[in-house]
Amino acid sequence: MAIRKIVKVGDDILTKKAKTVDKFDKKISVLIDDMFSTMYEAEGVGLAAPQVGMLKRIVVIDVGEGPVEMVNPVIVEQSGEQTCKEGCLSVPGLTGEVTRPEKVKVKAVNRKGQEVEYEAEGLFAVCICHELDHLDGILFKDKANKLYDEDDQEIVNGQDVM
Ligand code: NI
Repeated sequence: MAIRKIVKVGDDILTKKAKTVDKFDKKISVLIDDMFSTMYEAEGVGLAAPQVGMLKRIVVIDVGEGPVEMVNPVIVEQSGEQTCKEGCLSVPGLTGEVTRPEKVKVKAVNRKGQEVEYEAEGLFAVCICHELDHLDGILFKDKANKLYDEDDQEIVNGQDVM
């Protein structure tokens, strides 16, 4: 398993729509393993394939309850609302308050193409929404109600920051 380079904000790939995975081969398996290694090494709780330069609909998540991989994930149900402070490995030095659903149900497949389903709430739900946004070229800072700099100071006129 290799550590891949994490793409940072400013790179076009982070604003593009990722492609559906239709071939479940060794390459996909290696990519997913590398994504987990890269996420753990960077001490993140989630990572989407575009963040390692691959425009594929794959995310990996571990919010402390063990590794979860989702290929071609789709949120099929959502309810409630929660506002949390989020950061992103691709957007260093910035955090932001984002409002997301409190609960989501997501359907996906694993690396073998087998169907999986997750019901998530709290941080897990936030993380799923954040990572799935990456697959559509959306960053948390685009949705944030408030943005904070690396000293945790609120950034006023946040739209102009990046
Ligand atoms: Ni992110």
